[in-house]
Amino acid sequence: MKYLKIMTLALGALAFSPNTYTYGINIVPKPVSITIEKGTFSISGKTPIIYNFKEKGIENITAPLLNHLKNFYGIEALPVKYSARSEKHSVYISLNPASGIKKEGYRLDVTREGITLEASTPNGLFYGIQTLIQMMPASKATLKKASVPLAHIEDYPRFKWRGLHLDVCRHFMPKEFVLKYIDYMAMHKFNIFHFHLTEDQGWRIEIKKYPLLTKIGSVRKETIVGSNKLSKEFDGTPHGGFYTQDDIREIVEYAAKRYVTVVPEIEMPGHALAALASYPHLGCTGGPYEVCTRWGVWKDVMCAGRESTFAFLQDVLDEVLTLFPSEYIHIGGDECPKDSWKQCPVCQQRIVDEGLKDEHELQSYFIQRIEKYINSKGRKIIGWDEILEGGLAPNAAVMSWRGEDGGIAAAKQHHFVVMSPGTHCYLDHYQADPKTQPFAIGGFTPLEKIYSYEPVPSALTLEESAYIMGAQGNVWTEYMATEKHVEYMVYPRAAALAEVVWSPKESRNYTDFMLRMKEQTKRYDIYRINYCKAAFE
Ligand code: ACM
Ligand code: ZN
Repeated sequence: MKYLKIMTLALGALAFSPNTYTYGINIVPKPVSITIEKGTFSISGKTPIIYNFKEKGIENITAPLLNHLKNFYGIEALPVKYSARSEKHSVYISLNPASGIKKEGYRLDVTREGITLEASTPNGLFYGIQTLIQMMPASKATLKKASVPLAHIEDYPRFKWRGLHLDVCRHFMPKEFVLKYIDYMAMHKFNIFHFHLTEDQGWRIEIKKYPLLTKIGSVRKETIVGSNKLSKEFDGTPHGGFYTQDDIREIVEYAAKRYVTVVPEIEMPGHALAALASYPHLGCTGGPYEVCTRWGVWKDVMCAGRESTFAFLQDVLDEVLTLFPSEYIHIGGDECPKDSWKQCPVCQQRIVDEGLKDEHELQSYFIQRIEKYINSKGRKIIGWDEILEGGLAPNAAVMSWRGEDGGIAAAKQHHFVVMSPGTHCYLDHYQADPKTQPFAIGGFTPLEKIYSYEPVPSALTLEESAYIMGAQGNVWTEYMATEKHVEYMVYPRAAALAEVVWSPKESRNYTDFMLRMKEQTKRYDIYRINYCKAAFE
């Protein structure tokens, strides 16, 4: 009996002890400025949550807060209410376009009298809520209250393109996982989800006009086992999957509620064997073609000579544009060997008819035609840095992946750029000694290396630097067959990248980041994110 009482006391002390979590502020990505005071404000089930605006979307902002209060501390919040004025001891959410707060930024004040969150745009409020959540204890407890340290925070992002990519073609990822992926992105203040939907190894988006793209193109008959370079073994098991247009709408809407824009990628003219297998007339030889069962770069690509290729792509893009409201549409453009164009009389005739110098200019012609079409629909294209070869389409943005040279060249030509060099931003690379890690495609990008990345190359002038929209982490899934494996490769490295694209350059400090990550990884544990622990050991 006595023993039991001591146990209860000890447990009680543990639950309320300040040692169970840090009262300091451990926000990732690090805010622009923080002033901390002594003391806390406590949120309970009696704390009014008030907002001051009539625009739709308040649920997008309050939902993460209400869910967090309930799931972490057992707090059933009062119904959120509208009021033009704050109340004592409330959480007051104020949208104020005249506040002078930068786009996507926010100001958060935690005082003994209550919490005030202010922003000039709704996404600023959303990010302020993400910060507020990270100021609460990173532990689950049914205390029915959550302490928030007294502080004044001013914050806004450094870059407007804060991207994470996901290849769902090499290995299909279920819709539910994609939604989770977007949730974790939002938690780290990422705002662009680059959804890589078409490939040699699988076409993953339903296109109503071309049903064979998913009937044939979404399934490969088997998959290479182990290293693509060394292995001769296949698993003998079909691999497939695709998103219906309803799935896509759900994903886009889910992301929008978290202020994440989904940028779809429809690959052309290379990396398109799944499309060619479905509709062989798209290739130079007419096939037959097969959905690829191993990884790499393949010589069979879309024919750049036939009009029917462009008619097909315009039809596909018509449906894509209806589904995705994003400003940018990614058209791929990378790794397109010119072998089949060199052999194809129709492609060669196109070169003559258009007065092109060579096959590189033919690729440029291809991309420019697609750009013209997408521009005519009020959108813009972005492509991998190969689209520079043979001349950049007039309004195209460039995603620099083969190092930074493509991005530098594009910015010097006054084209917008997203930096995503393989050296620092490829999350399919090893993050620790390969001997200790699951098999990966190669490379070596430990947490500290991605944290050290600077997206604005010193080769650019101040004026040219303005063309760097931001940076992005890429997640190619050749060697990631499961959701857990994707999480393992992405986290914690995406947290480091989040800080690269959000926080001021001057404030970056790896030691400080690692201290804050101690708290962040407690949240990962609660969410059951399967993050890699190598950097913490
Ligand atoms: C790429 O990694 N092929 C863009
Ligand atoms: Zn051809």
